[in-house]
Amino acid sequence: MRATIKILRFNPEVDKTSHWAEYQVDTEPNEQLLNVLHYIKWNLDGTLTLRRSCAHGICGSDAMVVNGRNRLACKVLMKYLGSSVTVEPIRGLRVIKDLVVDMEPFMAKYKSIMPYLINDEDPGSRERPQSPEERERFDDTTKCILCAACTTACPSFWANGEYVGPAAIVQAHRFIFDSRDRGAAERLAVMNEWSGVWRCRTIFNCVEACPRDINVTKAIGEVKKAILFDEV
Ligand code: FES
Repeated sequence: MRATIKILRFNPEVDKTSHWAEYQVDTEPNEQLLNVLHYIKWNLDGTLTLRRSCAHGICGSDAMVVNGRNRLACKVLMKYLGSSVTVEPIRGLRVIKDLVVDMEPFMAKYKSIMPYLINDEDPGSRERPQSPEERERFDDTTKCILCAACTTACPSFWANGEYVGPAAIVQAHRFIFDSRDRGAAERLAVMNEWSGVWRCRTIFNCVEACPRDINVTKAIGEVKKAILFDEV
């Protein structure tokens, strides 16, 4: 199939604003968009800048706006995009160059929720046991790969960059509802701040954007409920 790929490009060394660049490519219907971008970079324009690593939907480094929707370039096939494709950097984070954005503010919010097990109790000579039912409580939110697709699809985040965002709440959920963890109160305090979970207006963009099919809005609702009713 022949496709026209329009990429929103920005080089801070020469550009004042971003601009569209257009590339014609011959590709296969089952080709990943990521490989088409590789083709452009390696054969048509070596200055095109993007992030990627695993190419299999695991590392979360190639989130971008594809035909207006947040996607991982490695998880979307050309046959689902049609012959005219637009590609833009994810929104709400500073563009460093082309499709690469500054992830530091996003990672700072992630760190703010203390994304590690908190438990000073001596586990003795064995692991901390957990029943299948206890594990099930946070199973969905363990799937997050920190690609930022949810947070950068969220209008509340676009409007207020201080908002901790859906991804950080998903990560908080993963630990708050872990029966082995003892840091729920600290994390819920972070979630209860003005920049926390109450900025969520239940818009559902995050659910649509998540490449791991996490029910982000449900997780956010459970964190809100835990704050209101002290139900962990
Ligand atoms: S390159 Fe790793 S998730 Fe796409």
